[in-house]
Amino acid sequence: MINMTENEIVAILERRLSEHRFQHSLAVAQAARELAQIFGEDTDLAYKTGLLHDYAKGIPAPELIAIANDHDLIENEIEKKVPDLLHAPVGAWQLRIELGIEDPAVLEAVKVHTMGSLQMSKLDKIIFLADMIEPGRDYPGQQRLDCLARRDLDQAMLYGLDATIRYCLDQGRILHPRTIMVRNHFLEMINDTNQITEQ
Ligand SMILES: [Fe+2]
Ligand SMILES: [Fe+2]
Repeated sequence: MINMTENEIVAILERRLSEHRFQHSLAVAQAARELAQIFGEDTDLAYKTGLLHDYAKGIPAPELIAIANDHDLIENEIEKKVPDLLHAPVGAWQLRIELGIEDPAVLEAVKVHTMGSLQMSKLDKIIFLADMIEPGRDYPGQQRLDCLARRDLDQAMLYGLDATIRYCLDQGRILHPRTIMVRNHFLEMINDTNQITEQ
C-alpha cells in the first residue's frame, strides 16, 4: 500500500523528473493499470508503482554510484560501468527513505524493473512490461510485446528480455549477467510448462 494519492505522487514527480521522463512515467502507470486489470492485480497499486518506477532516473552517474556504494546496492561491478542500471535499486531505496514507502512489493517492483529477477511477482512483471510497452517507446517488436503482455506475462517477459539482449548486442553494449540469467529462467519455465501441457 502507498499512503499517498495519485495526485500527490504526480506533483512530486512533476517537480523531480524531466518533462520527457514525467510523461513516460504517466504512460507506464496507465499501461500498468491496464495489465493489472487483465491479470487481477491491484490496479491502484500498479498505477502508483508505475508512476514511481523511475524515481531515481536522471540522477547523474557519479551520484548514483555513490548512493549505491554507500548503501550496499551494487550487485555486480558491471553496474559501475553502466550506472544507469542503478536507477532501479537506488530508486527503491530513495522511495523508502525520502517518501516513506515501506510496501516491500512496491519497492521490489521498482528495484527489479530494468533486469527482472528469478522470483518475479505479478506486480514485478507488470511494471517491467509496462515500462517496455508504453506508447511513447519505439523499437522493433514493441507492438508484438504489447499484444503478448496482455495475453501472457511470462511469454512477454521472455520476449522483452530477448529484445533487450538483442538491442545490447546490436549496439555493442555491455550485457549484465542478470539479464541473461533471468532470460534463461523464463525460457526454461515456459519450456517446462509446454512439456507438461503436451503430455
Ligand atoms: Fe527505468
Ligand atoms: Fe521507465
